[in-house]
Amino acid sequence: MSAENDIMGKLVSLCKRRGFIFPSSEIYGGINACWDYGPLGVELKNNLKQYWWTTMTQLHENIEGLDASILMHPKVWEASGHVEGFTDPLVDCKVCKQRFRADQVEGTRCPECGGELTEPRQFNLMFKTYMGPVEEEAAIVYLRPETAQGIYVNFRNVLTVSRQKIPFGIAQIGKAFRNEISPGNFIFRSREFEQMEMQFFVKPGTDEEWLEHWKNERLAWYLSLGIRKDHLRIHEHTPDELAHYAKKAFDIEYLFPFGWRELEGIHNRTDFDLSRHIQYSGKDLSYFDEETRERYVPYIIETSAGVDRTVLTCLLDAYTEEAERVVLRLAPRIAPIKAGIFPLVKRDGMPEIARKIVEQLRPHFRVFYDESGAIGRRYRRQDEIGTPFGITVDSETLQNETVTVRARDSMEQIRVKIDDLVPTLQKALTTPPPVTFAP
Ligand code: GAP
Repeated sequence: MSAENDIMGKLVSLCKRRGFIFPSSEIYGGINACWDYGPLGVELKNNLKQYWWTTMTQLHENIEGLDASILMHPKVWEASGHVEGFTDPLVDCKVCKQRFRADQVEGTRCPECGGELTEPRQFNLMFKTYMGPVEEEAAIVYLRPETAQGIYVNFRNVLTVSRQKIPFGIAQIGKAFRNEISPGNFIFRSREFEQMEMQFFVKPGTDEEWLEHWKNERLAWYLSLGIRKDHLRIHEHTPDELAHYAKKAFDIEYLFPFGWRELEGIHNRTDFDLSRHIQYSGKDLSYFDEETRERYVPYIIETSAGVDRTVLTCLLDAYTEEAERVVLRLAPRIAPIKAGIFPLVKRDGMPEIARKIVEQLRPHFRVFYDESGAIGRRYRRQDEIGTPFGITVDSETLQNETVTVRARDSMEQIRVKIDDLVPTLQKALTTPPPVTFAP
C-alpha cells in the first residue's frame, strides 16, 4: 500500500472506530458514495458550519443568512443552465457494460477489459424525482445540485426585507445532490453533500476587485483553522475549465494524499444568473442605486465551499502519528469535545470532584468524563479524537482546589484553579492550533 493510501486508510478506519463517519446503510452492505456522521463527526461538522456561519454573517454587517428549500420550481434549473449544461460525457464498454467519463479514458478501448467503447453521450448529473402522486414529465423536480440558486431566486426578497445596499451578500448552508459518475476518496466526492455558499452582489465594474477580496478572505479562513499553509494553494481556472456561468474563477486547493484538489470555488458569475432568472421568470431583479440614480443587474461573486470536503481537509491536516500516540491536531474551536475530565484515581473523593467540574463546564463546552484505566491511556484516547484539553483531579486538588490542565499538542501541564477553568478554556479554545501553554 502506498503512503498516501495508507494515510487515507488509517483515517477512514479511525473515523469508523471512534464514531466520526460511517458508511451509509451499512447493515445492508452500504450505498455507494453516501456517508453518515456519527456522534463525534456530527459535532465536528456542526462546529465547522457554525464557525463558517459566524465568520460570514455575524462578522459581516452586509451579509444576510438564508435557508432555502432543496426542491425548487423546475424552471430554476432551466434558467440556471443545469438542465442543458450540467452534464458529463459518458462512454459505455460494449463488452463488460462498465461506464466511464469520456475525459477519463484514453482511446476507444475499455480500461477494464479492453472492449470497444461507445461514442460519448451527455449524462445529466442532477437527481430527478416526481412531485405529487403522478409520475409524469410535468411533475419532474430536481434535487438541487448547488445551493446557490435558492439565493438568486430570493435576491429581491432579501433585498427588500433587509434594506441592504449593494455591495451585500447572502449566505447559506445546505445539502446538494449530484449523481457523480466517479465518486470516491471517502467523503471527498459523494452524491449527497453539503455546501456553504455565499453570493455577494456587486456593481458591474467592481467585480474584479471583489473577486480578489473574497479569494483572500476565504484563504485566510482556512489558515485560521490552522490548515498548513504549504498544503493550500490558489489555482486560477483556464478558459476550458470555467463553468458555464463564470467569467473568472479560482479554486482554493488542498494537497490531499491523492494530489492537489479543489476545496472551495470562488467565482465571478457576472450578471449571468440574475439575467437568466429575469428572462425565465419575467420578474424584475435589477437594482436601483439611490445615490447615483442608476439601475443595473448586479454581478455576483460567489464563494462555494464543501462542508464534507472541509471536514476531510481538517481531519487529514490534523492527523499526526507520534512515537507513542496518534493525535488529531484539530483547531480547538471545531474539536468535537473540548475537554476530557479525569479523576487520577477512583478514590479519595476524586471522582466526585471531577463530576462537579463536569457539571460546571457542561453549559459552556462539550466535555467527556472518563475514570477508567491508566491516566496515560485516557489522555491518548482523547488525543486521537482531537480533544484539546485534559483536566485531571489529583491529590493536590484535595488541598488547594486546583487541577492539572494538559495541552493536547505540547503535552505541557499547568495548574489552574477550578473556578478559573471556564475563562481559561474559553480563551484557549478560540486560538488556532497547536494547543500549547507556551507563550
Ligand atoms: N455554486 C457553485 C458550485 O457548486 P462547484 O465547484 O461545483 O461550484 C463547490 O462546487 C464546492 O462544493 C466544491 O469546491 C466542493 O467543495 C463541493 N462539492 C462539489 N461537488 C461535490 C461532491 N460531489 N462531493 C462533495 N463535495 C462536493
